[in-house]
Amino acid sequence: MDVYEAVESRRSVRAFSDEPVPREVLDRVLAAASRSPSSGNLQPWQVVVVAGEPLAALKERAGARARAGDPGDERVYPMYPPALAEPYAGRFAAAAAQRYAALGIDRDDPGRPARVAALNTEAFGAPAVLFLYLDRAMGPGQWADAGMYLQTVMLLLRAEGLHSCPQVMWTMYRRTVDAAVGADDGLVLVCGVAVGFERDGVPPLRTGRAPLSETVRFVGV
Ligand SMILES: Cc1cc2nc3c(=O)[nH]c(=O)nc-3n(C[C@H](O)[C@H](O)[C@H](O)COP(=O)(O)O)c2cc1C
Repeated sequence: MDVYEAVESRRSVRAFSDEPVPREVLDRVLAAASRSPSSGNLQPWQVVVVAGEPLAALKERAGARARAGDPGDERVYPMYPPALAEPYAGRFAAAAAQRYAALGIDRDDPGRPARVAALNTEAFGAPAVLFLYLDRAMGPGQWADAGMYLQTVMLLLRAEGLHSCPQVMWTMYRRTVDAAVGADDGLVLVCGVAVGFERDGVPPLRTGRAPLSETVRFVGV
């Protein structure tokens, strides 16, 4: 699979089969992803991959919180700016509408937030979840490094025939995740990534993208 194919075929999958992800595949992907660039070569990412019984227990504990309508732990960082202006608000709304339709959730359902959170805490059925942490002392530059690292991991997973879904939603229940993986207060959970094989027969969700004219400018090219 070439890089274009990996980029094109990566999408956030929200229906995984329970087929386990072999440990040697994870080793291969994470070893290759360590070549991801980082400012000053700090390599600030700290990763915990959880599967099997510990993941089942974590899904159960976080799921119980979600189903009870628990609004989540105090946030370490905001998921989004408090007021999302255009064009971001429109893009957000369009993606959310597509996502709810694909998950069979009615947009007007008052129980929607709890249902969305509950589906996320099941990692959409994924048999493995990668949790990405940063040292609390790290700043915006290292958060950018973390994003690059995550995309590298997700593209390499495609090369292995696997799919993923990045999940900031896990940060809602970060204390439950921290306890499950033994992360202390010096670490900040950036996000989780559900990892696995896509379940057969689920129509793929292809999200849109803004035209390049909205996001790219050339100067002197
Ligand atoms: C950092 C990050 C966090 C995300 N968190 C969630 C999440 O909690 N739940 C979810 O269903 N999708 C989540 N997504 C997936 C986005 O909704 C998705 O990337 C976007 O709509 C574009 O769709 P695509 O990934 O299929 O191309 C997240 C994506 C990123 C990059």
